[in-house]
Amino acid sequence: MDSSVNITILGPGAVGSLWACYLQKAGHNICLWTRNSTPSEQLLSLSANENSSHQFKCNDKQALNDCDLLLITVKAWQVESALLPLLPSLSKETILLFMHNGMGAIDDLKEHINHHPILQATTTHGALKENNTNVIHTGYGNASVGPFNPLGKQCQFIQDVLNHSLPSVDWNPEINIALWKKLAINCAINPLTAIHQCKNGQLAQPDIHQYVMNICSEVHQVLQEENIEWTENELVSTVTQVITATSANYSSMNRDCFYQRKTEIDFITGYLLQRAEFHGISAPTNLSLYNQIKQLEENTL
Ligand code: PAF
Repeated sequence: MDSSVNITILGPGAVGSLWACYLQKAGHNICLWTRNSTPSEQLLSLSANENSSHQFKCNDKQALNDCDLLLITVKAWQVESALLPLLPSLSKETILLFMHNGMGAIDDLKEHINHHPILQATTTHGALKENNTNVIHTGYGNASVGPFNPLGKQCQFIQDVLNHSLPSVDWNPEINIALWKKLAINCAINPLTAIHQCKNGQLAQPDIHQYVMNICSEVHQVLQEENIEWTENELVSTVTQVITATSANYSSMNRDCFYQRKTEIDFITGYLLQRAEFHGISAPTNLSLYNQIKQLEENTL
């Protein structure tokens, strides 16, 4: 039986390219969808435990019409502008799978996409796109995938597809909890490392670690109101573990600021602040970090 799945990947940046290579290796039919939307071909070399080369079709309208799965790996702030123009070309059975840092990007799109099965995923894999043709798998991690809407609950087979391609991937019926936990970690690490232009490991220094603790304390109050069962100690110790495990890395927001690109702040700290306001929680440390990143963006973009 042919169990290959037709997949279009919207946004072949580092994470999208990584999945493109592994999914094609596992025998699935992959098409890339890029910003310019012009039909073309793309060669990608994957540097990982086993190096491999992959040829992809790009921006193939027929592949988009026929895709079983649209894997959306653009950044949170690009989701709306990248996805809306493609919706008329999709079959209503096409599964939409969102994989990006941050939360809130699809909340306002619900009315446009809710007739599709929708999944969300979070991953800890490290990937670096060196140039247009090389992607490096810099750190092996894992992923969780789960449903965003009732139709998504019927699509657990996507976990198998992903898990066979790049293990391990688990099915999490409460993916929202995993997304909140990842958001909490990103709130604690990303803005500070971007403002101080330091590697993640520097957040373990006592002078700056106090800020990490203050962030976590505010984030924890919001998590409690969102019914995410995580003690403040668990949050702090997970953040500390991530800082240690990624001590030599620059966070994604650090890189965005360094290269003067737009950051994901609105969907990380910005989302946290929206929820804090909704629950009547004051979060001055996070607010100050949010304003500083917005100022940096204003000065450079
Ligand atoms: O955004 C990032 O860079 C990563 O999610 C994390 C966990 C902060 C590690 O750098």
